[in-house]
Amino acid sequence: MGDILFNNMEISDEDFKRMVNFLQKEYGIDLSKKRQLISSRLSHSLRTLGYENFHAFLEHLLTKKDSSDIELLINKLTTNYTFFLREKDHFSYLQNTVLPQLVRRHQGNRVLSIWSAGCSSGEEPYTLSIYLKEFFGAEASKWDTRVLATDISQQALAKAQAGLYKKPADMPQEWINRYFKPDAASGMYSVVPKIKSNVIFRTFNLMDPIQFRLKFDVIFCRNVMIYFNAETRDALVKRFYDAMLPSSYLFISHSESLGQTPLFRMVAPAVYQKK
Ligand SMILES: C[S@@+](CC[C@H](N)C(=O)[O-])C[C@H]1O[C@@H](n2cnc3c(N)ncnc32)[C@H](O)[C@@H]1O
Repeated sequence: MGDILFNNMEISDEDFKRMVNFLQKEYGIDLSKKRQLISSRLSHSLRTLGYENFHAFLEHLLTKKDSSDIELLINKLTTNYTFFLREKDHFSYLQNTVLPQLVRRHQGNRVLSIWSAGCSSGEEPYTLSIYLKEFFGAEASKWDTRVLATDISQQALAKAQAGLYKKPADMPQEWINRYFKPDAASGMYSVVPKIKSNVIFRTFNLMDPIQFRLKFDVIFCRNVMIYFNAETRDALVKRFYDAMLPSSYLFISHSESLGQTPLFRMVAPAVYQKK
């Protein structure tokens, strides 16, 4: 009984290869060194769904491509770790260098287009929304500063849209008072409507062509490409480039690299400007 409940499912070499190829091709995620992770994160759910072994699930997945199978994979196999004010120097750079430039550039239309690509459970786009509110202050209503926030994980996006978090660590108390409403019963903090309504959440696979209505002034794509191989990353960086306005900014994580790209120049640690 204990074995049935708790043992991870065995994955054959062949099935592991097929799974890795599928994830790589469809979602860019490289799990070629994560056999144990695939098995441990999926086994319980697969048993609950009635699959006797990993092979049966894989066959079903690859032949049917049911959205419920895909959702399970994404929810279980993506890494959604994130937090408010992550890599804070990026937000300072945005506030002190990027936003003043964009304000000068966009006096005509007063539209800024900012994208949090791979937003996970929403802490990054809400941090952006807070910084925008802080920067524009009373002028905020005169500008369209909506942040597009996308991810492939429905589970992460549902949490983002709920906007309910534990007390954000390392955030000034003044901002917590201004931008969160504490819920005494649950001890949780909900993002206030003026910050929430400035973020638009959408499901989007970064492997797909980028066809949003506006070109972007700023893209935050941090701690996402770290799970991609160089080829997938380079192709995405080129799609970002094509989707960005001249001299716009791409923020990646400090633990990532853009490789040798002729398309961007580095202007600050992990901050790139379109050439
Ligand atoms: C570690 S989180 C990063 C969250 C936030 N950007 C940060 O830096 O804290 C990585 C996110 O990338 C998303 N992701 C991975 N592959 C993706 C893809 N092909 N398309 C869209 N999102 C993807 C995952 O679902 C996950 O929520």
